[in-house]
Amino acid sequence: MHYAELPNGRRMPVIGFGTYRIDPKDTREAVSQALSMGYRSIDTAQLYRNEREVGQAVAASGIDRADLFITSKTMTEGYKPTREGIERSLERAGLDHFDLMLVHWPNSDHAGTYRALEEAYQAGLLRAIGVSNFNSDQIGELCEQADVAPMIDQIETSVYWQQRKMHPFLQGRHILHESWSPLGEGRSRVLEEPALQAIADHHHKSVAQVVLRFLTQEDVIVLPRSTNPAHIRENLDIFDFTLDEAELDRVRRLDRAESVENWPSDMLQEQY
Ligand code: A2P
Repeated sequence: MHYAELPNGRRMPVIGFGTYRIDPKDTREAVSQALSMGYRSIDTAQLYRNEREVGQAVAASGIDRADLFITSKTMTEGYKPTREGIERSLERAGLDHFDLMLVHWPNSDHAGTYRALEEAYQAGLLRAIGVSNFNSDQIGELCEQADVAPMIDQIETSVYWQQRKMHPFLQGRHILHESWSPLGEGRSRVLEEPALQAIADHHHKSVAQVVLRFLTQEDVIVLPRSTNPAHIRENLDIFDFTLDEAELDRVRRLDRAESVENWPSDMLQEQY
């Protein structure tokens, strides 16, 4: 496994297993498979309604908790609901800490919401904290009020939406860039892109593997999602080849700032 270093010195795998839109009844099985294949980072959220099943798979795996990296995300606004929400998430997952908790999307009380994360971080319930779907203005505003700067921003990032403005902004602030929907959610045509297919053929890899390798080489943490065991396995098998500078450039040129979700709209503005 390859790791990225968080600003507080902790480390996290550069590839994790995403559980968005995995039905709670399928989650335990999918996460168990991912863990047995070597994934050590699992990404869930209050919104996904599958924190309990993620926790069950973690408990059943027998893997040392210190070797796992479990992320969840809040769906509350303001200090008190968020503080309670974090406690309930931990209870549901049957865990005494999350390795990372993110404010899932910008809301009307960033400061209060984030303060609850900071407190839980200071108390050791959360080992790292950050945000998701925040643009550069929103991050700037949050940082002015925060004691603990966000360590990660998880934003839509794929070959067709490379976040060429957000990425340097985040790097400049020592905030890790994490991607949701690195494969275009199966809805974009990225997996049929001829330029990627040519690179994949050259390395005897799949297009999905080239996409994930590209993003990780560009210092983006990826969370591919799949319920297909062959895909789950394949998506982790990306560290035995490297794209050279010419290949990286070819993939960079495929950027069209095209979102699969067009959400959140704050993120789509040209300046971000
Ligand atoms: P499946 O569950 O059949 O594997 P994202 O991670 O960008 O949200 O994309 C998820 C979508 O990509 C799902 O539809 C998933 O379908 C598909 N997918 C995941 N991994 C692969 C892969 N290695 N090859 C082809 N499709 C994949």
